[in-house]
Amino acid sequence: MTAPLTDLYRQFEIPGVAEVVSGNGGLPKVRVTTAEGSGEIYLHGAHVTSWKPAAEDEVLFLSAKSQWEDGRAIRGGVPICFPWFRGKADDPKAPAHGFVRTKAWQIESIKQAAGAVIVSMFTESDDNTKKWWPAEFRLVHRVTFGSELGMELEVTNTGKTSLQFEEALHAYFRVGNVEMTHTQAPDAFHYYDKTDVHTKHTQLGEIMITSETDRVYLNTRDPIEVEDPVLKRRIRVTKENSLNTVVWNPWEQKAALMSDLAKEEWTQMLCIEPSNVLSFAVEVAPGQQHKMKAVAQVVDF
Ligand code: BG6
Repeated sequence: MTAPLTDLYRQFEIPGVAEVVSGNGGLPKVRVTTAEGSGEIYLHGAHVTSWKPAAEDEVLFLSAKSQWEDGRAIRGGVPICFPWFRGKADDPKAPAHGFVRTKAWQIESIKQAAGAVIVSMFTESDDNTKKWWPAEFRLVHRVTFGSELGMELEVTNTGKTSLQFEEALHAYFRVGNVEMTHTQAPDAFHYYDKTDVHTKHTQLGEIMITSETDRVYLNTRDPIEVEDPVLKRRIRVTKENSLNTVVWNPWEQKAALMSDLAKEEWTQMLCIEPSNVLSFAVEVAPGQQHKMKAVAQVVDF
């Protein structure tokens, strides 16, 4: 009899703090519990599916109808989009948002640090990734679970030519009612609107979700805050080395076409996605690295 997949990862566990268990669909996940907060990350896609600071409710949205299998993306949590965002420009058959969110990653390490736990996972280019993209790369995703959720995506160019890619930490936040959220954004904040043939618009005042919303905000450096009067909390997202923030909610009609989203679930989610996409794609020289970081916090209401 073959040993369960989770046995392969026993060496990384920290008893009572971080364990590798079988999750939905039998996919292995790391479950973290500390005094400051708890969380979960699947090896499938290095996909964070839960984060709950102590004394708070769950912060991430996860669909009840998500599919849990190789080759499919989990609906909710924080998918990693790489090396392209949305469709691949020169290949309509290529998987949306790239290929790393639908494959198994490996655990690199699990460490404790000041009330938090850092889970690092990695994946590398191989014959399968080269079917879609010829590049040589190594990705490490370091996730810190504690009173904050820290995420750091590190891309290393392991090839001999320059590497160009888009990337996003496609975070789905759980909200009480998306129509009642107010997202604070500085004035004169420009965005491309996918629901309006990608034309450029200027944000004046808060971002309110009143219809399908699919926007790439440009040159975003400041923190973004989502105020949720129903769950009575504010979620702040701070980032580094990310010049775009995508704001997405499919709204009723698009959501009804998504087989992995339950009816009405679109009202309980808002995606705020630290990213580098479109003309902000990143270029990394051979042997060099790029790190994009994002931190989510629940702050006073
Ligand atoms: C968002 C994109 O980031 O992800 C949207 O801006 C897209 O255009 C959405 O529809 C969901 O993508 P997917 O591939 O997970 O259904």
